[in-house]
Amino acid sequence: MAAPDRADGPVPAPARPRTAVTDGAPVVEAAGEDEVRVRVGEREFLVSAACPHRRGRLVFARVNEARLRITCPLHHSSFDLLTGAALSGPTERPLCVREVTGDQPPR
Ligand code: FES
Repeated sequence: MAAPDRADGPVPAPARPRTAVTDGAPVVEAAGEDEVRVRVGEREFLVSAACPHRRGRLVFARVNEARLRITCPLHHSSFDLLTGAALSGPTERPLCVREVTGDQPPR
């Protein structure tokens, strides 16, 4: 029995690069072991990879691009991306954040 001919099958869509900013949607990606890179439009932030509450993995966080907030996937604390201040949720501890500017060397 011959192997099925896959040349006529559907062409899979190319994988979406994790570093690309597509459709203007925020991008959250790992930036080493300890940080997460958050891209919102032309702005870029590096934040701690672990939530200050109980170390939720912020690489899976949701980002509100209009309010510049990041929300932990574990217990839903949200933090200001500009200051790191805890805005809601079970923790009052701030998140380590910094905005990446052209003045800083790449990490
Ligand atoms: S671990 Fe992030 S809110 Fe609890």
